[in-house]
Parts: sequence; structure tokens; C-alpha cells
Amino acid sequence: MNPLASPQNRRQFLKSASATGAGLLILPSTTLFGAATPSKKLNVALIGVWGRGLAHYNALSAENVVALCDVNELRFPEALKKFPGAKTYTDWRKCLDHKGLDAVVICTTDHSHAHVAMWAMNRGLHVYCEKPIGMSVEECRLLRAKYLGMKTKIATQAGTQRHAIPNFSRVREMIRDGAVGDLSAVFVWGNRQLRRPGYLPGEGTPPSTFHYDQWIGPSPYHAYNPNYFSGGPGANCLQWNMYWDFGTGQVGDMGNHTMDLAWNAIDAGHPTAIEAKGEAFNPDVTPVELTAHFDHPANDWRGPIRVSWYQGGHLPTAPKNYIDLNKLGHGAMFKGSKGILLADFNSRMLIPSGDSDLTYYKIRNKEKVTPPLGDFQEEFFRACKTDLKTSCNFDYNGVMTEQMALGLVAYRAGKKLEYDGKAGRITNAPEVNALLSRKYRDGWPLNG
Ligand SMILES: NC(=O)c1ccc[n+]([C@@H]2O[C@H](COP(=O)([O-])OP(=O)(O)OC[C@H]3O[C@@H](n4cnc5c(N)ncnc54)[C@H](O)[C@@H]3O)[C@@H](O)[C@H]2O)c1
Repeated sequence: MNPLASPQNRRQFLKSASATGAGLLILPSTTLFGAATPSKKLNVALIGVWGRGLAHYNALSAENVVALCDVNELRFPEALKKFPGAKTYTDWRKCLDHKGLDAVVICTTDHSHAHVAMWAMNRGLHVYCEKPIGMSVEECRLLRAKYLGMKTKIATQAGTQRHAIPNFSRVREMIRDGAVGDLSAVFVWGNRQLRRPGYLPGEGTPPSTFHYDQWIGPSPYHAYNPNYFSGGPGANCLQWNMYWDFGTGQVGDMGNHTMDLAWNAIDAGHPTAIEAKGEAFNPDVTPVELTAHFDHPANDWRGPIRVSWYQGGHLPTAPKNYIDLNKLGHGAMFKGSKGILLADFNSRMLIPSGDSDLTYYKIRNKEKVTPPLGDFQEEFFRACKTDLKTSCNFDYNGVMTEQMALGLVAYRAGKKLEYDGKAGRITNAPEVNALLSRKYRDGWPLNG
């Protein structure tokens, strides 16, 4: 038997090849893996082929896309044009058992992310999962724990591709180099507002080409309505992500991108306390207006900080009255003893305190500047073939997404919560622990 026939053995071989300095591109692909599978290509399944899935086509075209999965069969012809020969599936559980898979790219609804990602890791696959990787505290923790147990074997990447914008590194460098002095508070916000009264009323029946029960997947059943699917490519998530059973609203949507801008700069772990407030609770729809505060202990380079998330019209106080944070749309602000750094995804602005002469802050030498990350999706595929290192793995992004989910828990609890991040438990209000997990439909276990 060819010792390199199984994906696990091939990955192990590729890892040791890269560790010993043997460049992957010089491997004799046909003799190693057979003519159909050049050594430098991974066998990948794309789950959710339209919408956000389209944004992955470029990076995927450098690999072997062997399986395509979508609940909407009408999406297959276009995908097959790009990836001819791939086998099509409408059930991701069957797709994950496609023989010879190395990696999976998950672009489905938020309410299926944790399931697909966990099942994929259980099968030893590398996982790229669109944000947010999980909707509940428990999902984020279980995915992270699973990844940490396998991180010498697989690569993971959460789909926060803005992380590759060089401004993310510049912001981190400025905070670490003391541009604002001693950091004390971080404010992050997003102003997207999508208001809905409740789940859509049932309307019509799904076309025979649309597998609605698969779309519902692990979530409680809600009647079909075509308006859940009426959005444009890559924006259809805005038709369903505000409903509690399908998403987490802006917390998991733009919040995952914008908090990443701050998270990348503050080296924070779990918060020790969380409090949140927002509009009146709606059992169907996540809050549009929300403010959540998270207390973080000191680490080895900074003192304790408070991180705050604002959405839906809630905003932190602007550092100057001529600055309109609402116009900035999605941004982060870092407050320290010597000034404030204001940033959006692409730009930054330092506002030193009135009496500061800025001599405390030395701009770093060119050779110490963080090199560009390059293409974010390609970073994942490169990691799968080499050192398994990605910038937004399920460890880094898992804790951040867990924190964002905790914001919604504190909002629902309506009181300040103390949190034991090691145990993943609320310590001052045990009854609130029930809100840390989601209930799944029968037959849809998270761990399958
Ligand atoms: N990283 C980003 O910038 C970014 C941008 C947009 C969307 N997203 C994320 O991408 C995901 C998809 O968003 P979208 O707007 O493309 O949504 P969408 O509703 O258009 O779904 C994308 C595709 O997945 C398919 N699909 C849905 N559930 C499925 C399932 N269980 N099994 C197989 N196929 C399934 C749909 O039929 C569709 O073809 C969301 O999680 C969203 O948060 C990320």
C-alpha cells in the first residue's frame, strides 16, 4: 500500500518535507501522489458554493476542488464551470466523507459553521471557516479546544480576511511601541442597522431544487419564506443573520471583523467580567442596538484594560467634537495615558494628549516592521502544506468570538457577569450558564 495514500500520511510527509527544507514545488508530484494529484495541490471541498463562496474561487483555483456542496442545486452549474469534475453534494455530512479530502472551506450560514467545522476536524481535515466560526460561547470553546488538540496536524483559519490589510499590523505596532502610552481602554464599533420584527411568516414552499431542511440543519425549525434567500451574492447573510437561530446579528457579522482590528493589537485572553445593555429583548431577533463592556486583566506588556463593543447607533464618545465616529462606520479607538489612536480598516490617526511632545514614542525601524501577510486565503492553503501557521486560527479567533458571544449573554442576563475563562463558566449568576450554549434539533449533534 502506498504510505502516502491517506490525507493524514500525506500531510505528515509534507510537514516533514517542509521542516527539513525540502521545497514543496520540487517534489516529483506524479511519483509521489499519482498523476491526478500534483503534490502542491490540496483536495478541497467547498461547502456553500455561491455568495461568499464566490470570493474563494480565486484562491481555490490553485488547488484541486474535488467536492462542491450546496443546499441550492441551482448554484452548481456555475460552480462546476469553475471546478469541472468536482462531485456535488447537497448534504455537507456526506460531502465531508468524500474520499481523499485534505481541506474544507465553509461558506454556509452561521448556524451551521460550528457543526461543519467540528465534523471536518473530526475527520482530520484542515478547515477555513467563514466568520463567525460559532454562535454560542460553547461552540467557540469546543472548536478552539478541538483545534488546540490537533494543531500539530491541521491548519484552521477564521474568515476575517481584512486581517491581511497592512493597517492591522501598523495599528498593532503603534500600540505595542507605546504611541498612546499605557493602554487603558479600547472601543470598537459598527453602525450597521438591520431591523426586523420577527422570523418571517411562512410563505410558499421551497422549490424542489432547494433543500430547506438541510438549510435549517441544527437550528430549531422555522417556516420557509423566500425572502431569507433574496439577497445578492455575498450579502444574502443580511437576510438571515439577525435571527437568533440563524446568526448573532452584527456581533458575529461586522463585529468579528472590527473587533479583530483591536484584538490583533491587545493580546487579550478571556474577559473576567462582562456587562451589556441594548434595546428591549426580542425572542426572535438579536439586538440592533447594543453596548458590551469586557474587563481584561493585565498581561506581560500592559495593565488591565476595558474593551467595549458598540453597535447599531450606540457609539463611544468621540475624542474631539470635530470627529464623527458614525461616519467612520466601523472602527476602533485605543485610549492610553499619552493619547488616542483612532483606526478604521484602512487608516489610522494618532491624537496625542494636549501637552504631549511625542518624544516618548519612537517609530520603529523599517526592518522591524511586520511584513505583509499577503493573500489571506492563500495563507491558509500555504499553511496546510507547510507549517500549519495562520494568522486567524481557531485559537486566536475562538477566544475573540467567544467574547463577542458573551456580550450577547450579558445583554440577555441584564446584569454584570463575572466569568471564569478557564472553566468557561459564569461564576456570580449560575443560572445564566444556560445561555452559553445553543439547543440543536434532534439528529444534529455538534460532534459528529
Ligand atoms: N468574510 C467576509 O467578509 C464575509 C462577507 C460576506 C459573508 N460572509 C460570511 O459567509 C457566510 C455566507 O454568507 P452569504 O451571504 O454568502 O450567505 P448565503 O445565504 O448566500 O449562503 C452562501 C451559500 O451557502 C449555501 N448554503 C447555505 N447553507 C448551507 C448548508 N447548510 N449546506 C450547504 N450549503 C449551504 C447557500 O445556498 C449559498 O449558495 C456567512 O457566514 C457570512 O457571515 C463573510
